[in-house]
Amino acid sequence: MRVLGIETSCDETGIAVYDSERGLLGDVLYSQVDLHRQYGGVVPELASRDHIRKTLPLIKEIMAETDSTADDIGGIAYTTGPGLVGALMVGAAIGRSLAYSWGVPAMAVHHMEGHLLAPMLEENPPAFPFVALLVSGGHTQLVEVSGPGVYEMLGESVDDAAGEAFDKAAKMLGLSYPGGPNVALLAQRGDGKRFNFPRPMVNRPGLDFSFSGLKTFTLNTVQASRQQYGDNLPESIKADIAAAFQSAVVDTLVIKCRRALQQTGISRLIIAGGVSANQELRLALGEMVKKQQAELFYARPKFCVDNGAMIAYAGCQRLLAGQGEDLSIEVRPRWPMTELAPLS
Ligand code: KG4
Ligand code: ZN
Repeated sequence: MRVLGIETSCDETGIAVYDSERGLLGDVLYSQVDLHRQYGGVVPELASRDHIRKTLPLIKEIMAETDSTADDIGGIAYTTGPGLVGALMVGAAIGRSLAYSWGVPAMAVHHMEGHLLAPMLEENPPAFPFVALLVSGGHTQLVEVSGPGVYEMLGESVDDAAGEAFDKAAKMLGLSYPGGPNVALLAQRGDGKRFNFPRPMVNRPGLDFSFSGLKTFTLNTVQASRQQYGDNLPESIKADIAAAFQSAVVDTLVIKCRRALQQTGISRLIIAGGVSANQELRLALGEMVKKQQAELFYARPKFCVDNGAMIAYAGCQRLLAGQGEDLSIEVRPRWPMTELAPLS
């Protein structure tokens, strides 16, 4: 089955064609980063307006690029949540309507299930069961995945998401949006040991996360450094703060992932979502799984952040399992992943 996937939940218009026999045929991405940068974050209304301009031209482009005609498409998958309501409505309305006019089934996809399944697009995908660490701008979750579509929440952030913490730390350091990759870049030049950042909640049992304390600690460190060095902090101090912040987030995630593997007895860990593109996190988790005699899986960086390929893939699995939508179009800005129906 060949599936057209549409992702418009936030600030990226991602479109892709996935074929269950031949794999991913093609994907395109239009990022709104330049549009939102001047505001220091995503402006929902502007995001919707840009998605509606870009979605159909990108669909036309990917259909041509993958040599697909409407007759080749067996189903359409689109993100219906979680995300920004207006942005979601664009992809859902276009996707559902196109499926109706082409006479094919439609599948409403959970954005985080899309992220979680992105490593399946790579060579040597993980077998079930596995533990998934989902780390994006809106979510930090540890999920036990015992089979296709069977999700049990092991732990999640009680406040900020890991990506959100990266973005806020970036702002405090005067780095532009989106902050995560910029903090990571600056941290490469820093000494993570000059400042001693806390590792939140690691001494408490359980698998929940908290990143808001780290945010406050970062702010206090920036302010104390300004008093010492003046308002224009030297680059080296900023780099040291970025490195210390990143180490604290990475350590916390590693400790909780190790605990999740030990608690479940599962020996496969996948990481997904924007923060899973972080090189330090990948390296540290790689070392941890080695010691635990477990395996680590992740997608190539462009499929860690928002993209259409993961939505086409996730939708294809659900359409093949016989699931689909009626003609009423619904979006779900908040949507617990554990509410999803299993696939088999
Ligand atoms: O999954 P994603 O593209 O969108 C959401 O579903 O939220 O994740 C975006 C988040 C942003 O907070 C961004 O700063 C963060 O992922 N991010 C990173 C890196 N690349 C993206 N954080 C740390 N290191 C990175 N290399
Ligand atoms: Zn995402």
